[in-house]
Amino acid sequence: MTIGLFDSGVGGLSVLRRVRDLKISEDCLYFADTLHMPYGSRSSAELREIVFAICDFLVAEGCRLIVMACNTSSALVLPLARARYKVPLIGVLEPGARAAAEVSRTGAIGVWATLATTRSQAYEKSILAYRPEARVSTQACGELAPLVEQGELCGPIVEQALAACLLPLLDQVVDTLVLGCTHYPFLLETLTPLLPPGVTVVDPAYQAAAAVASHSTEIHRGQGHTTCLVSGSGDNFLRVARGLWPDIGETKEVRFARGSDGLRVEMS
Ligand code: DGL
Repeated sequence: MTIGLFDSGVGGLSVLRRVRDLKISEDCLYFADTLHMPYGSRSSAELREIVFAICDFLVAEGCRLIVMACNTSSALVLPLARARYKVPLIGVLEPGARAAAEVSRTGAIGVWATLATTRSQAYEKSILAYRPEARVSTQACGELAPLVEQGELCGPIVEQALAACLLPLLDQVVDTLVLGCTHYPFLLETLTPLLPPGVTVVDPAYQAAAAVASHSTEIHRGQGHTTCLVSGSGDNFLRVARGLWPDIGETKEVRFARGSDGLRVEMS
């Protein structure tokens, strides 16, 4: 079985690395839609069209499981996509919400996410479904994903951006912080010293990878092959991706085309 994963860029590699950590040996096709980055400032309708084009392509390429390695897509498109495709789809938002609901001591939970995820209120709804008395504060951190996408993981600009996202949450005295965008775990090293004591960070990638493992038939059967498909600048993606996750496989370019039947993806 081939597993398809996608995100707007390098962010979903934070999920792919956890999939490989679990010794899942299936071949993986990782679709980095750098052409449409950032997803977080797109409307639901725009994102739906993009995500359906990517999923159509991944299914046509033989993927039998699709991982939305992207919180924004998981928030805005996952329920519609599940109704559209026969292959199972795994998102990152629900596993992250569940983990936060379970791990929080007091029920005061902060979520950092893109603007689109924040507006959807999907994290609030999902966390409250698991823990009805929880108090969820969601913070849009639109600057963070573009920094990671450029390979900026530390230094004063990154620290400043992280501190600005932390400020509103400090007032809420949260004990748990969900990294509700798959780009953010790559900032963890810089973020950790800035966090107030006693805050537990939840990276939904771990739970999403566990969900992938439950569908996988190839565990501990050797190193699966990873191919990255990039829709925008392949050079920038490769430069940044190699720094984030050295196991990155071969990279191929893909392009979006608009036909009478809507948006579709083609090999370049
Ligand atoms: N990494 C994505 C997410 O988890 C999208 C970031 C973006 O393109 O805005 O939401």
